Amino acid sequence: MSEIENLIEIAKQARNCSLAPFSKFLVGAALRTEAGKIYTGCNIESASYGLTVCAERVAIWKALSECERDFTDLVIVVDTEALTPPCGTCRQIIWEYCKHAKITLANLRGQSEVVDIRELLPKAFDARFLKDATSK
Ligand code: THU
Repeated sequence: MSEIENLIEIAKQARNCSLAPFSKFLVGAALRTEAGKIYTGCNIESASYGLTVCAERVAIWKALSECERDFTDLVIVVDTEALTPPCGTCRQIIWEYCKHAKITLANLRGQSEVVDIRELLPKAFDARFLKDATSK
């Protein structure tokens, strides 16, 4: 099994932990660090709906909060025929914290596709603009 196939399997396992009683849309994620450590995530829904957190961000927050900063791969697994890309909020966070990671979208039917955050979020907003603004 290749390293990416292994990461897809790990994201599938993470998907099994998904707490999605409202949408029934189960998502799993696996984030690999430069050193080869893997952080997983699943989506966690709230009865308030708005407090729901996506699988990608759970994995990213877990890794960042353990002081990890450099990532090689992010895998997202959803059982959809058309491979599910990250939502807009997650794209922003991926841009800010996992810019260099290769993003692989996969489903449970053996399909996968690699996408680039630059193509998912063109003309991204980030900290560079904060420095550029005037205070008045
Ligand atoms: N979801 C994710 O976990 N990642 C995405 O990028 C898309 C959406 C979750 C949030 C919610 O629990 C469910 O999928 C339906 O939107």
